[in-house]
Amino acid sequence: MTEINKIIALAKRRGFIFQSSEIYGGLSGIYDYGPLGVELKNNIKRLWWQNIVMGREDVVGQDAAIIMPPKVWEASGHLEHFADPLKECANCHKRFKADDLKNQEECPGCGGHLGVERMFNILVATHLGPVKDQANLAYLRGETAQGIFVNFENILNTMRLKIPFGIAQIGKAFRNEITPGNFIFRLREFEQMELEYFIEPGTQSKWFSYWKDERMNWYLSLGLKKANLRFYRHPKKELAHYADMCEDIEYKFPWGWGEQEGIASRKDYDLRQHSKFSGKDLSYFNTATGKKYVPYVIEPSAGVDRLVLSLLLDAYHEEEVKGEKRVVLRFKPLLAPIKVAILPLVRNRKPLVNKAREIFKILSAEIATFYDEGGSIGRRYRRQDEIGTPFCVTIDFDTLKDDTVTMRDRDTMRQERVKIQDLVDLVNDKMTN
Ligand code: GAP
Repeated sequence: MTEINKIIALAKRRGFIFQSSEIYGGLSGIYDYGPLGVELKNNIKRLWWQNIVMGREDVVGQDAAIIMPPKVWEASGHLEHFADPLKECANCHKRFKADDLKNQEECPGCGGHLGVERMFNILVATHLGPVKDQANLAYLRGETAQGIFVNFENILNTMRLKIPFGIAQIGKAFRNEITPGNFIFRLREFEQMELEYFIEPGTQSKWFSYWKDERMNWYLSLGLKKANLRFYRHPKKELAHYADMCEDIEYKFPWGWGEQEGIASRKDYDLRQHSKFSGKDLSYFNTATGKKYVPYVIEPSAGVDRLVLSLLLDAYHEEEVKGEKRVVLRFKPLLAPIKVAILPLVRNRKPLVNKAREIFKILSAEIATFYDEGGSIGRRYRRQDEIGTPFCVTIDFDTLKDDTVTMRDRDTMRQERVKIQDLVDLVNDKMTN
């Protein structure tokens, strides 16, 4: 099995990621996160929010609506520029990205004739209210960023912010991708973690390199291997319609290097456009210098789903232990969906099970904990290894005598005897290391 197929199989088998609406055949480019996937995703988002918003004095958060009026997308340029060239097959009517076809004249699916190249806008449209006409047209946002730009004035005034400052948001974005694929790499519904960091015009080079360093260090702090990360600088002709500089942080996926996050210098493009289209003055007045200007912006924009995929790929290990294959996800403890598994040695001894449940209650009040009494202890360890649980706590007959348990480390498989009363502190200590 290829590396990516192993990850797809594990993600489904262990409740990380499922094809959306699978019992109805699913939808291309849309996935659901299961019980473990949602925990992993929440951990990623919490760590990003802590790093970008809570841990800084100069950034605030927001949560804007997903549905926005066409004017926003007209102003942002997405209605005009957010398009891919495609060709449609005259026979099976499948559409293909012109870039992927490389001058091919026949349909890769059925061999039919491919029509002329057309531009296809990838914003997802909907209608609000009962009448489906042009006046009720709205779009699901293609990026969370525009929700930040349209709130610039509200947030500036209510939070009394001084430049440089940032507004951050985590949320869903939608793109009608012509060729979704590579599992959760290219989706039609996905989640972004975006920061718009507003700066004085002329200071963009300094802040661009500041945010490049910050963001790369964050990925390294999550435990991603340095060798699997790199920067890619966009040549001028590849820049998005709003950017004067852009570098991607790329991850080495099994099919090659791919974008994990884009860091763009968007200048004052968005605020100026929204000023023009809304008629509102979106400039900033520096009371200390008396200078008035439309701020420039540096935007680090990351994809949650792509990070889920990078983390799964990076953490996946196979090894042989006592002649048997062990699959282990070596997540950093802070990222692991479950931190501690509580395992009574045997399930048919009531005092043991009662004690295990008591310990579960203590730990689960603070820490993501899982209770499992089914199967041999060895099998239960393997099940936890496979989902990346860093610590397994086993309750045995000595526990009933001296209130100690065995704590097993996922990576070294070493076990130590610890007091129940020390468990919470011990796990918390090990998690921050
Ligand atoms: N506001 C800027 C912006 O949206 P982008 O490079 O188009 O820039 C930012 O998207 C990030 O969102 C990407 O680096 C990627 O991680 C994620 N992303 C973009 N399109 C995606 C898709 N179709 N499926 C999954 N993630 C996607």
